Amino acid sequence: MEIQNPKYGQGDATYRGVGGDEGLKKLVAEFYRQMSSLKEAEHIRKMHPDDLSESEDKLYCFLSGWMGGPRLYNEKYGSIAIPRAHTHLDIDYPEAEAWLLCMGKALNELAYPDDFCEYLMTQLKVPAERIRMASLNRQKN
Ligand code: HEM
Repeated sequence: MEIQNPKYGQGDATYRGVGGDEGLKKLVAEFYRQMSSLKEAEHIRKMHPDDLSESEDKLYCFLSGWMGGPRLYNEKYGSIAIPRAHTHLDIDYPEAEAWLLCMGKALNELAYPDDFCEYLMTQLKVPAERIRMASLNRQKN
């Protein structure tokens, strides 16, 4: 019987799907390129520092562990709770949608298979929504 590839989300299947360390680095670089060039993302680009190198490294390190690969963020920067890491920012639907748009465009640009893009975008909506809720709750206080 043929052994099937594990589905994304199991073990390191997502990490392998992105192309491992090299693929993830390219994806995050493309993500920030999209953020710096898309009109729809201007407002979230402005939330970031001019020099994106630290933001880029932190997202790359975080996504590595999040995708089932090496837990680089914890090793380099310590522990992180993603919603809490964003509570100093005003994030509602337009900001969350712009962030996801940049990721969708980056995946498209790098020509990942459709099933991978769909899987990743569905999964990323979860932390994006948690971040939005945390920001909203903080604004009420
Ligand atoms: C919902 C829309 C989002 C917006 C508008 C947003 C925006 C930002 C901004 C502006 C920063 C830099 C903060 C600073 O330098 O002070 C940041 C940091 C970061 N973001 Fe997001 N983000 C979003 C969603 C996400 C998602 C979905 C993830 C992960 C799946 C993520 C992961 C990170 C990480 C790891 C950092 C570095 C945090 C740190 O070490 O302080 N972000 N984000």
